[in-house]
Amino acid sequence: MRIPRMAIEAESPEQLGYDRLRFNLTESSVRDRSLAEFDLDLKALTLCYGDHLGRADLRAMIADRAGGGLAADDVLITAGASAALFIIALTLLEAGDHLVVVRPNYATNIETPRAIGCDISYLDLDFDRGFSLDLEAMAALIRPTTRLISITAPHNPTGVALTEGDLRAVIALAAQVGARVLVDETYRDMSFAPPPPVAATLDPRAISVCSLSKAFGIPGIRTGWIVTADADLALRFLCAKEQIGICGSVVDEAIAAAAYAQADRWLTENDARLRAAFAVVADWMAAEPLLEWVEPQGGCVAFPRIRDSAGVDVAAFHRILNDEHGCYVGPGHWFEQSDRYFRLGYGWPTPQELVGGLAAISAALRAARA
Ligand SMILES: Cc1ncc(COP(=O)(O)O)c(C=O)c1O
Repeated sequence: MRIPRMAIEAESPEQLGYDRLRFNLTESSVRDRSLAEFDLDLKALTLCYGDHLGRADLRAMIADRAGGGLAADDVLITAGASAALFIIALTLLEAGDHLVVVRPNYATNIETPRAIGCDISYLDLDFDRGFSLDLEAMAALIRPTTRLISITAPHNPTGVALTEGDLRAVIALAAQVGARVLVDETYRDMSFAPPPPVAATLDPRAISVCSLSKAFGIPGIRTGWIVTADADLALRFLCAKEQIGICGSVVDEAIAAAAYAQADRWLTENDARLRAAFAVVADWMAAEPLLEWVEPQGGCVAFPRIRDSAGVDVAAFHRILNDEHGCYVGPGHWFEQSDRYFRLGYGWPTPQELVGGLAAISAALRAARA
């Protein structure tokens, strides 16, 4: 299996070096938190192998929050949502298997099935349709042999959300051919409107993936999870996890449990911060004639587009933005799109950095006009 290096990883801010970035608008998370915020004394922690499923109290809290009758054993802790996605693809898919994947998407959702050699039908989200999920187009892509339908909600990089009705419709389409549905819910705890239920609570064929990286701002502990109400499938996921690393880090999981125990307070504060940052971006977009966007409904990113009529040299724009302003965004090619699009992360920067970064984008757009 040949796994290519993804541009989104090779060009990520942590690989570039944070000190090179004056205005970091690349991130798809809230600001990273420090260990000191949790007031945790880990000195007594025994550094043994942990529960292979993941720490039981953490799994119980996740199941409890998801509701719908899920139990702790329906949750498998993984090394971030990325490992969850890898485990799911490895478990469910073989070379030649057919799946339907939404595009653009977080790269792993596409690259792993591609590396496995799957037969992929892409459901391309269209700016001019508000990046909405076109259920008719999805139905047309599904075959009697389809193994998996893979969606992300709220969506990265557009921030577009799904309704419970959409989710149920996707599950119904999958049911017609006996396929499973993977719902990458990594941004679920950052929805502006109440999110639909955790997909795994709706049907045993739905598999939910989430993590503490984005809404909780602690990607450094690499803690995510898979939820499924299908016990046989859960066991297969555990087998894959055991092949990769037996269990997770007991240190990571201790921190994760402390963070998750604060979920209500933390997510409420987050929501206020994200709404304030979003308002700044929305005002700026309203006053920026060279850009257009589909207004996001969740997450902490938007995916604006440089207007065709703006006469901007797109390569020059990105070069000037990076080299002259020290401002970075996620260019479209991270998502297999033209660099006319870029992902703008508004949840991570401080208010001052956000304002400075948006001004840098406006300045670079003008400097790059022919
Ligand atoms: C949609 C989506 N899924 C999964 C991930 C992986 O996140 P992590 O492994 O840090 O949980 C990301 C990261 O950007 C993402 O955007």
